[in-house]
Amino acid sequence: MITETAVTENAPAKINLALHVRARRSDGYHELETLFAFVTDGDTVTLAPGPLSLAITGPFSAGLSGEGDNLVLRAARAFAAAFDRPESGTFTLDKHLPVASGIGGGSADAAAALRALARANAIATDDPRLFEIAAALGSDIPACLLGRTAIGRGRGERLVPLDGPTGMPVLLVNPGVAVSTAAVFKAWDGLDLGPMPDGEALHVALDARNDLEPSARRLAPEIDGVLALLSVGDPLLARMSGSGATCFALYATVADRAAAAERIRAAQPGYWCLETALA
Ligand code: C5P
Repeated sequence: MITETAVTENAPAKINLALHVRARRSDGYHELETLFAFVTDGDTVTLAPGPLSLAITGPFSAGLSGEGDNLVLRAARAFAAAFDRPESGTFTLDKHLPVASGIGGGSADAAAALRALARANAIATDDPRLFEIAAALGSDIPACLLGRTAIGRGRGERLVPLDGPTGMPVLLVNPGVAVSTAAVFKAWDGLDLGPMPDGEALHVALDARNDLEPSARRLAPEIDGVLALLSVGDPLLARMSGSGATCFALYATVADRAAAAERIRAAQPGYWCLETALA
């Protein structure tokens, strides 16, 4: 590392405003068309000089291990190999996003670790090698590295940025059930329901679907209840993100979002509920 001071990077939650599954591939992945967006809240990753290690703090740290195959450590090892540097970096992950929940927490953390390592080593954060490392680590990690609204194709790693409705109020709700991405993709019925529409981001989102919703709802019926709660009060859009179980709603005003959050917290005090905005 070149820097001698700690570097902190935000790891914002990702949402899939739309997710069309077009085909099952022979490599075990699925061909997607998805609209990635990011919110203004999430985890944070801090990198300080020192031997490679990971400490995890925050409300969702329980059950996560700072050893072995955590994506932050895998990202650090892949960075060292790709840039021919010693494996190093004392990482702290402050975990505020629920795990295995369709909002890319682990992917966002890995992307933040790569950005922190790049900054600490005077490497541009848009260096194509970082995107190669990201794609090898996970399908959503290139989008998280880019960190802005984008269309994703292929596994989700072929990205085209576009302007999004920055600042739009968003509510994220998770019922507290972890969902396996691989299991949800496996349970997809294989029917191609057609391409994602073209155009401006909000228009695409409103006209599109999340094709993983039916299979995720079968595996985690709690998602039905979350979507029913989010559909009350006239949101612009209520939909599941990624492979679930987190769902999101978009609102015209902060007051609409606050009213929905209050209602959902009263109905389901155990649900995780984050009032945030599109980045
Ligand atoms: O790429 P990542 O490791 O995050 O993906 C987790 C799992 O989700 C994969 O092993 C695969 O089963 C499924 N997946 C998929 N098609 C994609 C992305 C993920 O089938 N485009």
